[in-house]
Amino acid sequence: MKFTFYGHACFGIETAGKKFLFDPFITPNELTKGKVDVNAVEADYIFVSHGHGDHVADLVSIAKRTGATVIGTYEVIEWAKKNGVENVHPLNLGAKQFDFGKLHFTPAAHSSSMPDGSYGGNPGGFLFHDTDKKFYYSGDTCLSMEMQLIPRYSALDFAILPVGGNFTMDVDDAIIASDFIKCNKIIGVHFDTFGYIKIDHEAAKDSFRTAGKELILPEIGETIEL
Ligand code: NI
Ligand code: MN
Repeated sequence: MKFTFYGHACFGIETAGKKFLFDPFITPNELTKGKVDVNAVEADYIFVSHGHGDHVADLVSIAKRTGATVIGTYEVIEWAKKNGVENVHPLNLGAKQFDFGKLHFTPAAHSSSMPDGSYGGNPGGFLFHDTDKKFYYSGDTCLSMEMQLIPRYSALDFAILPVGGNFTMDVDDAIIASDFIKCNKIIGVHFDTFGYIKIDHEAAKDSFRTAGKELILPEIGETIEL
């Protein structure tokens, strides 16, 4: 399984010949300049955790170019359809079988509105049960007791959690989250993009190491084999 980081909370996962893309936000992110070509990003499925601009800025253009199926809340999908995206699958918090296996759309404690101000529905995260490696992406959220449900469903191989603080969990809470989800291999996202969420990379990794866990902070454009 391959993980490619496109900056902020945007990443691709390639598994069993399928290309998953999460929370497309590339062109407004200065840090991606010269490192990511938005027109070269591929996707069969695009997963949208919530409607904020830093998660949907490039959703419409990438969805139209690739023809990928966009999966997100009913409200996110209504917004995407209004903007001309046709291949969509609306859902809400819960579970559903797809051709790539079972998907849980899990609760996130955050907010969700679309760039036009319309309501984005509940923010959420994604739990993949049947991919070659089982993984969880929490989306933007604070630490939440709900995360303790995750290990009841799946023994995770890795998880993707926000670590930048201010709008989401910080590093210390992400360590507690990794206890809750019983997963010691964490890929950090949602850091450094804006002043409010700049973190000290070495200190963050040290904190995880001290807790007996691994924190990966990918470079923008980097692909990691998992
Ligand atoms: Ni957000
Ligand atoms: Mn965000």
